[in-house]
This record gives sequence, C-alpha cells and structure tokens, in this order.
Amino acid sequence: MIVTLETKRLILRPWKEEDAENLYELAKDERIGPSAGWPPHKSVSESKEIIKSRFFEDITFAVCKKETGEIMGCIGISLSKNSDLCASEAEAEIGYWIGFPYWGNGYIPEAAAELIRYCFEELKLQKIWCRYFDGNEKSKRVQEKCGFVYYRTVHGVPCNLLGELKTEHISQLTLNEWRKTHEKQN
Ligand SMILES: CC(C)(COP(=O)(O)OP(=O)(O)OC[C@H]1O[C@@H](n2cnc3c(N)ncnc32)[C@H](O)[C@@H]1OP(=O)(O)O)[C@@H](O)C(=O)NCCC(=O)NCCS
Repeated sequence: MIVTLETKRLILRPWKEEDAENLYELAKDERIGPSAGWPPHKSVSESKEIIKSRFFEDITFAVCKKETGEIMGCIGISLSKNSDLCASEAEAEIGYWIGFPYWGNGYIPEAAAELIRYCFEELKLQKIWCRYFDGNEKSKRVQEKCGFVYYRTVHGVPCNLLGELKTEHISQLTLNEWRKTHEKQN
C-alpha cells in the first residue's frame, strides 16, 4: 500500500486500473516512452496490463494536477531488487515521465523533490540513483534541478523493451548531499 504525496501544485497518488484510458492517451505518444526506455502503448488494454504488472510493483505514483485531478504523468522508484544500480536496500532508482502537453512547467522537478524527500525522510534511504539516455537533455535538466550529481557513463547498455543498445548517463543523490541543499533552502 503506497501513500499519497502532495506538493504545491500536485498530488502523487497510487495508480488504479481505471486510469488505463488516461494513461493510454499520454503513453501512446512517441515522444514519451522511447526516451525513457519503453515503446509507446498500443491500446488501452496494454496500458491496463502495465498498470497491473509494473505500476503496482515497487513505488509508482500517478502525477496529478491538484486543481483538476487530471493525470499528467508518472514518477516512481525501483527498489534495490529491481535496479542494477543499487548496492543495498538503502538505495533506490527514480524514474519519471510527463505527457507532452504538460512539458516545461517544472511539474516533474516538483514531483521528484517531494518523492526524494519521502525516500530520505520516511523510507530512510541513503542514496537515490537516476539515469538518462545520451541526448535526453530534458531529463538531464530535471536531474540537475533535483541536485543529482553525475556519476558515470556506460556505453552499449541493452535496453530490452526497445531492443536497442544505449549510452546511459548515471547520476546519484546521497542523503548527505540532499541534506546540505535542503537545509540551505529551508
Ligand atoms: C524529461 C521530462 C520528464 C521533463 O519533465 P518537465 O516537467 O517538463 O520538466 P521541466 O519543466 O523542468 O523541463 C525540463 C527541461 O525540458 C526542456 N523543455 C521543457 N519544455 C520543453 C518543450 N516543450 N520542448 C522541448 N524541450 C522542453 C527544457 O530544457 C527544460 O529545462 P529548463 O527548465 O532549464 O528550460 C519530460 O520532458 C518527459 O517526460 N520526457 C519524455 C520521457 C523522459 O525522457 N523521461 C525521463 C527518462 S530518463
């Protein structure tokens, strides 16, 4: 059972099977999935299967606009057992996307800031990993805005869902680094 989180403009809540149609509308767009490592959704029933199989696993939230409740995107963490970047159970990997109509409003940095706080303060994690494919400058910017620090680049990484080899840039945020920036802001 995952919690619901709240920011100034957003509600981050668990996905429901009934969200499949809204998910499909956003995730059928070719500008979204391939940048994040998965193919565009092909039908509402595929979106429903993905909600049941992937979004109910780990900790995955629908990113909703507070004013209207509409679903705009998705953010979540893979726990250590599901991420090859994690060296212990005190680590997790964050992933995110937002539908094209909503790009450029700072929604994902706002959602990520709250999820990061939740990971460090409530789940008591020590480190959060993040990655983006070479050329995805938009995701790189999100990671910079959230305080992630470049760690390393890996070439020829198999991306199974796309059937391609990719170059990945990996970054990390440790609890200590997060505390330093967080204390400055508050
Ligand atoms: C990456 C992504 C999550 C950013 O979310 P967002 O809420 O739009 O984040 P921001 O508003 O902070 O925008 C981030 C950067 O995207 C770029 N950007 C924003 N709107 C844009 C648009 N309409 N067209 C092109 N680039 C745009 C800007 O460079 C911006 O940085 P800036 O604020 O310094 O100018 C979103 O673009 C997305 O879902 N992309 C496809 C999936 C993906 O790449 N997921 C991440 C996989 S690692």
